[in-house]
Amino acid sequence: MLIVQVCVGSSCHLKGSQEIVEKMQAAVEKYKLDGQVVLSGSFCIGKCSRGGVTIQVNDDVYTGVSPDGFDEFFKEHILDVVNS
Ligand code: FES
Repeated sequence: MLIVQVCVGSSCHLKGSQEIVEKMQAAVEKYKLDGQVVLSGSFCIGKCSRGGVTIQVNDDVYTGVSPDGFDEFFKEHILDVVNS
C-alpha cells in the first residue's frame, strides 16, 4: 500500500498542485490502483521547490514535480513500485 500525499501548500499550489492531484486521480483510475494507492493532500511539507510540486510517497519526499513531468514521476515512483 502506498500513501501518496500531494502538497497543496501555497507554494506548491502556485506550481500546479491542483493539476497534479487531478492527474494523479486519473492515473490511479486508469491503472486500477484504487486498492493499492491511497491519495491525499497535505499542507506544506517544508520542502518547497522552485521547480514544482512536492509529493510524499510513504516516507520518501520528492520535490519539483511539474505537470509536464508527471507521467515520468508516476511511472517511476508509483506504478513501478506497485508492480514490483
Ligand atoms: S508548499 Fe509544498 S512543500 Fe511547501
